[in-house]
Amino acid sequence: MPLIPLEDELGDVLDKALHCAGLNEEELAARSGVAVDKIQNLEDYRYDDLTDDDLHRLAAALRLNEVGLCALARNKYPRPRITGLPFCVYPIHMPFGVGVVNAYAVVECCTGVGVLFDGGIGFEALQQVWPKAVTRIEAVFLTHPEAEHIGGVAGALRQHGLATFYGPRNAPCGPECWPLGEGETVVASGYQITAFSTPGHCAEHNCYLVRPKNVPQARALLISGDLVFAGSLGGGYFSCEQLLRHARRILEALPGSTVIAPGHGPMTTVDNERKYNPFLG
Ligand SMILES: [Fe+2]
Repeated sequence: MPLIPLEDELGDVLDKALHCAGLNEEELAARSGVAVDKIQNLEDYRYDDLTDDDLHRLAAALRLNEVGLCALARNKYPRPRITGLPFCVYPIHMPFGVGVVNAYAVVECCTGVGVLFDGGIGFEALQQVWPKAVTRIEAVFLTHPEAEHIGGVAGALRQHGLATFYGPRNAPCGPECWPLGEGETVVASGYQITAFSTPGHCAEHNCYLVRPKNVPQARALLISGDLVFAGSLGGGYFSCEQLLRHARRILEALPGSTVIAPGHGPMTTVDNERKYNPFLG
């Protein structure tokens, strides 16, 4: 599996934390004792004169996990090995902005038959990077109806002869979208898939917990959309307060071994993000 970069670096995390705290750079400087021009440099991805003491002060002022923040600043954010899932997961990375947006195919390893989460930026882009081992999709799930996540869904439905897909309740995603609310579970292609309603990045957002129907105690996969990333969170464009609350409750509720498959950046685990995620540790 190719090693893709984290979605957010220190400057992005700082930017999101400032937004969620309702502070500007001057207010953070006053609160932390770190010079305002240094804070502005960080937001512009210039870290040359950043000291451990600055990071300590910024973490305290913004209530961020200092260990995770320092790891991000030093390019050493821990990347856990993703192993032990009782099915095959194919992250389908498509270039988006300076990073990637991800769809995921979860399939039975021998047959390549399974389910698809999100559709990426468009069907053509999805087809270009479609894993050869994925032969058939029997159900499609959408985390949230933003263009770069829903773009390829209609084409994927057509390609696999499906009429509907599952998505968040009240999402503006057309009559073919079958709504799933908090705790609702469907069985598709041999998987038990439970929706968590997790608004915050946008008003309608679901995460999905995936387990084999016949082995519910097996290691699980969380499709986290734009709620939790490795080393960061999605932007709290709808509500930072709700985003943080849902991210914390999901990470508290799930076993530490649960694998997280985010809408952007690389995969991670619940354990890793509990320990190091700047917003959650
Ligand atoms: Fe996104």
